[in-house]
Amino acid sequence: PSNKKLLVLPGDGIGPEVMREVRRVIDWMDRRRAVSFDIEEGLVGGSAIDAEGTPCSDATVAKAKAADAVLFGSVGGPKWDSLPFEQRPELGILRLRKDLGLFANLRPALVMDPLVEASSLKPEIVRGVDIMVVRESTGGVYFGEPRGVETLPDGKRRGFDTDVYHEDEIARVARVAFDLARKRRGKVTSVEKANVMQSGRLWRAVVGEVHKAEYADVELENMYADNCAMQLCSRPKQFDVILGNNLFGDVLSDLAAALTGSLGMLPSATLGAVDPTSGRRHALYEPIHGSAPDIAGKGIANPLAQILSFAMLLRWSFGMEEDAALLEQAVGKVLAGGLRTADIMQPGMARVGTSVMGEAVVRELDKLAA
Ligand code: NAD
Ligand code: IPM
Ligand code: MN
Repeated sequence: PSNKKLLVLPGDGIGPEVMREVRRVIDWMDRRRAVSFDIEEGLVGGSAIDAEGTPCSDATVAKAKAADAVLFGSVGGPKWDSLPFEQRPELGILRLRKDLGLFANLRPALVMDPLVEASSLKPEIVRGVDIMVVRESTGGVYFGEPRGVETLPDGKRRGFDTDVYHEDEIARVARVAFDLARKRRGKVTSVEKANVMQSGRLWRAVVGEVHKAEYADVELENMYADNCAMQLCSRPKQFDVILGNNLFGDVLSDLAAALTGSLGMLPSATLGAVDPTSGRRHALYEPIHGSAPDIAGKGIANPLAQILSFAMLLRWSFGMEEDAALLEQAVGKVLAGGLRTADIMQPGMARVGTSVMGEAVVRELDKLAA
């Protein structure tokens, strides 16, 4: 058995609660699948601010770089909301993405059959939805300079950010989207606001060039981001891969999550470039939800997004497709069996808390592997 190095960063709010359930799954993999993980735990976000004075220390970045993969929970919360901008917990995840070069954030929105009725949209609209949002995650308005809030001579304040993309940043994330589409249903919908934004114009142009030169076999559709939001709610089945910049990808992936019933269901993978000499790539896996301060500490958070993020980790970082699929299958069985956390509760189903849901996944793993 090979030892795989994992850095686990539970973070704040429900992060540690849902991460505990992943640990059960990791223990199970250890015991039953002859895969050993060397696990190191670290602090990030508000909990790191409290203990180390910074949302993500240099030591944590170094550990993340040395690990084969990072499993991340979520950061933030009311306790730290009044801190100055440069000290906020959210900078923890932003720093990790930036320092590890994690430019491609893959956010699958899959409507599972047992949850069709849990969606806020009509069953016939969402049944069978299977979308992959590819969000650029190290550029754009999240990092562009200049940015700030300044006080003008008349005493009024002015806030500003810069949405900026280099063409190479657009091209490399476009390739990730086209590669994925080739393995899926062969279609990329690239979203921007080329009608009002210069960086959006460049986005459309560069995606088109990459498409023409390298991926003519894939269907490319360009769509304005606002229209995409509308189409996601009215005709989501038209989408296969959605490619967007940092901000549009963030917003549209939360929207896509709502189709599936709950933010508590959706995992993500954030990938760096493959190093040509070692063949390795940095990667971080996290649910797309945040620290959910409104339900933190109550033991009712849905752990499935975090568990499914671990499945993505097995697939993308370790090539363990069989184990990843097994874990996803176990989650499907638990849902088909009628267990529901509060966020996906439906009439006639059994409401359970975080740890009962985690235990149920492990029990299904046992049955599937028997
Ligand atoms: P949120 O995702 O934390 O919560 C939005 C809503 O979804 C809440 O009602 C919450 O209870 C619910 N929800 C989220 N995850 C759930 C789960 N697993 N099970 C059940 N319900 C769940 O977003 P927010 O409230 O806008 O942000 C809260 C904090 O989290 C903020 O500080 C924000 O910056 C931060 N945040 C962090 C990340 C991250 O760490 N990657 C992502 C998003 C938001
Ligand atoms: C996400 C979150 C983060 C983002 C925040 C916490 C910085 O919303 O991972 O989707 O905006 O990228
Ligand atoms: Mn978000």
